Amino acid sequence: MLNAAPPLLHVDGLKKHFPIKKGLLTKTVGHVFAVDGVDLFIRPGETLGLVGESGCGKSTVGRCILRLYDPTQGRICFQGNDVAAIQGRDLIRFRTQVQMVFQDPYASLNPRMRVREIVGEAIRVHKLHPGRSWREQTAHLLREVGLSPDQMDRYAHEFSGGQRQRIGVARALAMQPKLIVADEPVSALDVSIQAQVLNLLDRLKERFELSYLVIAHDLGVVEHISDRIGVMYLGRIMETASDRDLYQKPLHPYTQALLSAVPKAEAGQRRKRRALLQGDVPSPINPPPGCRFHTRCPEAQSECRNIHPAMIEITPGHQVACHKYAEGGKDCP
Ligand SMILES: Nc1ncnc2c1ncn2[C@@H]1O[C@H](COP(=O)(O)OP(=O)(O)O)[C@@H](O)[C@H]1O
Ligand code: SF4
Ligand SMILES: [Mg+2]
Repeated sequence: MLNAAPPLLHVDGLKKHFPIKKGLLTKTVGHVFAVDGVDLFIRPGETLGLVGESGCGKSTVGRCILRLYDPTQGRICFQGNDVAAIQGRDLIRFRTQVQMVFQDPYASLNPRMRVREIVGEAIRVHKLHPGRSWREQTAHLLREVGLSPDQMDRYAHEFSGGQRQRIGVARALAMQPKLIVADEPVSALDVSIQAQVLNLLDRLKERFELSYLVIAHDLGVVEHISDRIGVMYLGRIMETASDRDLYQKPLHPYTQALLSAVPKAEAGQRRKRRALLQGDVPSPINPPPGCRFHTRCPEAQSECRNIHPAMIEITPGHQVACHKYAEGGKDCP
């Protein structure tokens, strides 16, 4: 069913350029154009998958949303408020409402802390559930993420990667967030347990009325849990579509190439085989002019080398930035 609620999160023209400093006077000699004009939105209850090869700027988008980085340009609105302008008590509230689940559950949890300290601390500090003891609340959250409350007194280092990621999810849930930014939440885990953690996130979404930004370098990871997906390349979004449209009718040559690398699942049987991606991603210090994908695109034309393709809507909710689909383009469906 089409979700027409006003967005919980709105990102508009986001740019994040990291200066490159050299020499004793730390002169700026260039920039890493990590994020260079990203628009996206997430509605309440929605999961947006953000996908692209390593280094294309996904984590930087996530960190800007969490206000860990100040954007170079652009606006991020959460519940209608400009995130850059949030201050004081509102900032404390924002920091509980938007939580992060990290890529590496080994690095993100202090191995010398007990689970009750990791999860319970958040409950105690923020006094989110007055009337119930923090121990009761911790036990409740552990059950919700598929762990036993008996494990509360054990140390983080005693758990497997998948279990640690569950502890990280419980810690995030303790803050009663509205939005969780999950940055490569399963890429450090064994393939055999990736689906379990993804299913857990999906199940918790409804129970806790969450919205997610799920970041991954692999389209296979976000396939089943996303409502919509944005495909990123070198700091920009190349295509946005509903989960179904993106997998069944990928339009951008980059999306098509990424999909051809996804192992064939049931839906994949219908995918056409396409050429795998050739070559490396160009440096974000000196991104190609025109369409950023033109150096690797099998369908590049001369205009692609000079003119930046605007994002155009092909069908409702399905947008692509590629000259092939511009008005009168030969491949317009
Ligand atoms: N703090 C930073 N300072 C300088 N460059 C950075 C910083 N963080 C990320 N980058 C660079 O920005 C680009 C995008 O990085 P990142 O957002 O981590 O990509 P992804 O998450 O898609 O792998 C990369 O070239 C990376 O090296
Ligand atoms: S704009 Fe040109 S180079 Fe870019 S994806 Fe489309 S066809 Fe390829
Ligand atoms: Mg990353």
